[in-house]
Amino acid sequence: MTNSVKPNTPNKQEKALKSLLPILAFIKPYKLMVFYALMALLVTSLVSLSIGQGVKFVIDKGFVAGSQSELQSSIFFLIGLVALLAIGTFCRFYLMSWLGERVSADIRKTVFNRLITLHPSYFEENRSGELMSRLTTDTTLLQSIIGSSFSMALRSLLMLVGALTMLLITNINLTMYILIGVPLALIPMIFHGKKVRKLASHSQDSIADIGTYAGEIIQNIKVVQSFTHENKEKLAFADEVEIAFDIAKRRIRQRSLLIASVIFLAFSAISVMLWSGGRDVISGAMSAGDLGAFVFYAIMLAMSVGTIAEVYGELQRAAGSATRLLELMSVDSEIIDPSTPAQMPDNKENIIEFKQLKFNYPSRPDVSALNNINLTIPTGKVIAIVGPSGAGKTTLFELLQRFYDPQQGSILFNNADITQLKLSDLRKTMGTVPQSPILFSSNVWHNIRYGKPEATEAEVINAAKRAHAHEFIEQLPEGYDSFLGEQGVRLSGGQKQRIALARAILKDPAVLLLDEATSALDAESEHLVQAALQELMINRTTLIIAHRLSTVMHADLIVVMKYGEVIDTGTHKSLLTSSALYQRLCELQFDQNKEL
Ligand SMILES: Nc1ncnc2c1ncn2[C@@H]1O[C@H](COP(=O)(O)OP(=O)(O)O)[C@@H](O)[C@H]1O
Ligand SMILES: [Mg+2]
Repeated sequence: MTNSVKPNTPNKQEKALKSLLPILAFIKPYKLMVFYALMALLVTSLVSLSIGQGVKFVIDKGFVAGSQSELQSSIFFLIGLVALLAIGTFCRFYLMSWLGERVSADIRKTVFNRLITLHPSYFEENRSGELMSRLTTDTTLLQSIIGSSFSMALRSLLMLVGALTMLLITNINLTMYILIGVPLALIPMIFHGKKVRKLASHSQDSIADIGTYAGEIIQNIKVVQSFTHENKEKLAFADEVEIAFDIAKRRIRQRSLLIASVIFLAFSAISVMLWSGGRDVISGAMSAGDLGAFVFYAIMLAMSVGTIAEVYGELQRAAGSATRLLELMSVDSEIIDPSTPAQMPDNKENIIEFKQLKFNYPSRPDVSALNNINLTIPTGKVIAIVGPSGAGKTTLFELLQRFYDPQQGSILFNNADITQLKLSDLRKTMGTVPQSPILFSSNVWHNIRYGKPEATEAEVINAAKRAHAHEFIEQLPEGYDSFLGEQGVRLSGGQKQRIALARAILKDPAVLLLDEATSALDAESEHLVQAALQELMINRTTLIIAHRLSTVMHADLIVVMKYGEVIDTGTHKSLLTSSALYQRLCELQFDQNKEL
């Protein structure tokens, strides 16, 4: 899969700074901010550089000349410069950090907006933990780059050029020491920098692994505890953490070495220069102030080089992040609206036809989930789909909602191929109660209203009543305002199902898809919900996947499926004589009823 997010390989890291360029598109809307920030940057750099001249004044005019008044005025001059520097730094820091936060917020939104429209199979091929880490870690890295590292690098570059110019003006001979020292410092930078970057990206991957692992365990905590696997999971998690630590250790060792060698080389060069300059001052070839200014500029230059060394590595890491984010942003959904969508007929008819349908899940290319399905669903009728688990019943619903496109054949909705309809038009006509109901970590209002966001409270309550959910909702600690927990953990399976049912009822769709919507209900509430469903199905095309005979018996048409194929179709009566599989399913059902 070319589109999938793969762990960052070193080879991708080496794409280097060029891959940061597309990020410029996100900075473009804030051109004015960038301009002001750059102005502030320029001012602070110039002021920093002129402080060297202030130092020279203070030494030559004050200390050496021994003049009180000259000393005072040069100190005032110095303080003035420092004040200007403080103001400039405030502006630069504020503007640049603002820019970093703004751009990463925009990138997060863009990535999320892209993700949310992607075809569902994309998420089967890519781990969600990995995608989350793109949204958080990678964008945070970019934010720190744009907000601080980049401006640091730029400032250091300006300082480097400025300091070098001032050095050359002050004393050419001494500058030679610097010019030898700086390239020497660059050698370890280049040598270690590469290793640091590689390890840094491994480090990030292993942190993402930790997150994914912990997330899964926490979600399935009850399974872990009921199998008493706590110790096993502790050990397995510890392994993951230690792997991450080992990688981090190697990275920080390299990085410490890098910083240490840069500092040693740079400051050694300064020391040698001080020795040589000191001799010049003693012999009178140079003023003390000049040497002071010279040392100031030399330190500034050394620090600039050090900063660039650090930032360069970070920029490269950010380039890796940028590459991955841009990859995500450029994934195209495989399920998209047709360029010229067919008009959705609103003649109250909803005839659904499956024609020569053949489908396998993209993640399982060689097992066909549906095979040679030919089926016509008449409008306004109740169609029950029965069959052993794994027969492809749920898959049929997923194709109908166009979460996947079939490899062969087609699905027609009122004679229009569903791939020719606007996705939102198609999905708006359908309401689903999935096999395992999905609730959001919010209150009851939010969860039921998901079916119709603009619904009034009265409408929500009415839908809940029809789904026989109202009674138990009222008994929750805060009624409809009760928080349901992550994925509705604070409800029983049957309660979740009834909330999901209320949601579908509120949507009031033309086509109702019920996937074992009553499977988790106890006999009594099932009876009640059944009555509600019966009423709901009137004048509505309803496809209902069911295991219980009571549900199936009243269907206008029963479709028997096995191994991804439709084996028989008919009514309860006709199938009892014509279909061996249906007979067997019924017998099992009756046995079950006896047990109740
Ligand atoms: N997302 C998926 N990726 C790969 N295979 C799947 C996926 N969902 C279901 N399957 C497989 O497709 C077949 C049909 O599944 P499904 O339609 O859920 O069966 P049923 O609803 O009849 O129990 C099964 O063999 C199942 O393992
Ligand atoms: Mg199913």
